[in-house]
Amino acid sequence: MKFNKINGTILEQFKRITGEGNVLVSEEQLQPYSHDYTEDLKFFPDVVLKPGSTQEISAIMKICNREKIPVTPRGAGTGLSGGALPVYGGVILSTERLNKILSIDDRNFQATAEPGVINQVFQDAVMEKNLFYPPDPASKGSCFLGGNLAESAGGPKAVKYGVTKDYVLNMEVVLPSGEIIMTGANVLKNSTGYNLTQMLIGSEGTLGIITKIIFRLIPLPKENLLMLVPFFSAEKACEAVAAIFRSGITPSSLEFMERECIEYVMKYVDVKIPLTEHVQAHLIIEVDGNDKLVLMKECEKISEVLEGFDCGEILFAETSQQKADVWRARRSAGEAVKSHSVYKEEDTVVPRAELPVLLRGVKDIGKKYGFKSVCYGHAGDGNLHVNIIKESMSETDWNEKVPAGIREIFELCVKLGGTISGEHGIGYVQKNYLDIAFSETQLNLMKGIKNLFDPNGILNPGKIFPGS
Ligand code: LAC
Ligand code: ZN
Repeated sequence: MKFNKINGTILEQFKRITGEGNVLVSEEQLQPYSHDYTEDLKFFPDVVLKPGSTQEISAIMKICNREKIPVTPRGAGTGLSGGALPVYGGVILSTERLNKILSIDDRNFQATAEPGVINQVFQDAVMEKNLFYPPDPASKGSCFLGGNLAESAGGPKAVKYGVTKDYVLNMEVVLPSGEIIMTGANVLKNSTGYNLTQMLIGSEGTLGIITKIIFRLIPLPKENLLMLVPFFSAEKACEAVAAIFRSGITPSSLEFMERECIEYVMKYVDVKIPLTEHVQAHLIIEVDGNDKLVLMKECEKISEVLEGFDCGEILFAETSQQKADVWRARRSAGEAVKSHSVYKEEDTVVPRAELPVLLRGVKDIGKKYGFKSVCYGHAGDGNLHVNIIKESMSETDWNEKVPAGIREIFELCVKLGGTISGEHGIGYVQKNYLDIAFSETQLNLMKGIKNLFDPNGILNPGKIFPGS
């Protein structure tokens, strides 16, 4: 890819648009923007711009498009596939100053927000009006809504309530040309033309920059119950998952953690999860609704189902503190693994009932290629986060054997009817595996779409497409 450098004249133009204080150029200022949460990867931009409005973003894009300067949009930088890494340098366009909730419309169950609003801040604000915005990635305390849309983020609540894409009605977007569009309408039903909203969600910042989001909200469930279930076999825990759904119950969360993952977590955060000698995995099962008696009956039924899968004593989180502790443990899993060793995180996803086959396959492939994996994830969605741990593995094995093993894991996902990322995106780290999920015809269709939106290829280059 051939891009141009940012010269003094262009830098002056940027300063006129955003104000001098919102143009960062020193190494010290650029450093925090050189990485996200993806592995230990680092790429420095030439400049970080912090625009304060849609119009400023539009003006920046017009310059970059004309001058062929790469632009990498960035939210909070909590992504796990390297979507916010400026792999070709150029501009990082940070949405951090676009951080306002513009309206919460409780007549229509809608809210309008800018992309730099933190997920948890948004959830809390709508909760005050008895409304619910379910998507809750592990990083919800710091991640931005814009980044959530870029990756169509999920989280534990997705199993009952769906992912980010299911809550977006309409968006304002700045195209690479600098033109500003709305993608749809503020309605629950829409059969009008192609669905640009859903096309842009999950496009990982490669088609346009989201500057305003109109969300759909739902009523807030008032009650929940949380069970922690130990299993003596990790595969049996995975088998139990589909059986729970077959019994007619849809839990509001159904999470899986392998023993070693729980051990890492307990070293990383101050939470105690009971882990007797032969326990190999836990399921965290939450049900929610408005009637506690109904929820208790659901838990009874779930307990009956679980008896058939050789589980240990089921624990109920009695207090809100205990519930918060279980969730803190679960949400810390990724960081706990990261603190333990260099690692690669895969975001595998298969139809729910195939989860035990996937888990067994991951372990067998690990044995074949000589790597250890620690698994956890959203079992109810068939979404297993596979963390491949480097520990004392040699650089050669890490660089040669592990990618071959990952390829085999992804091939297994596709064979089982799944795919290679459920909620983290392809970004920079998975792009060279995309041929496993898509044929050349499919990839060419996607490249055609990219070219239509961004003929100069300036927006988030080096992402999604193999070899890009
Ligand atoms: C989680 C993140 C890594 O589920 O997706 O913890
Ligand atoms: Zn996850």
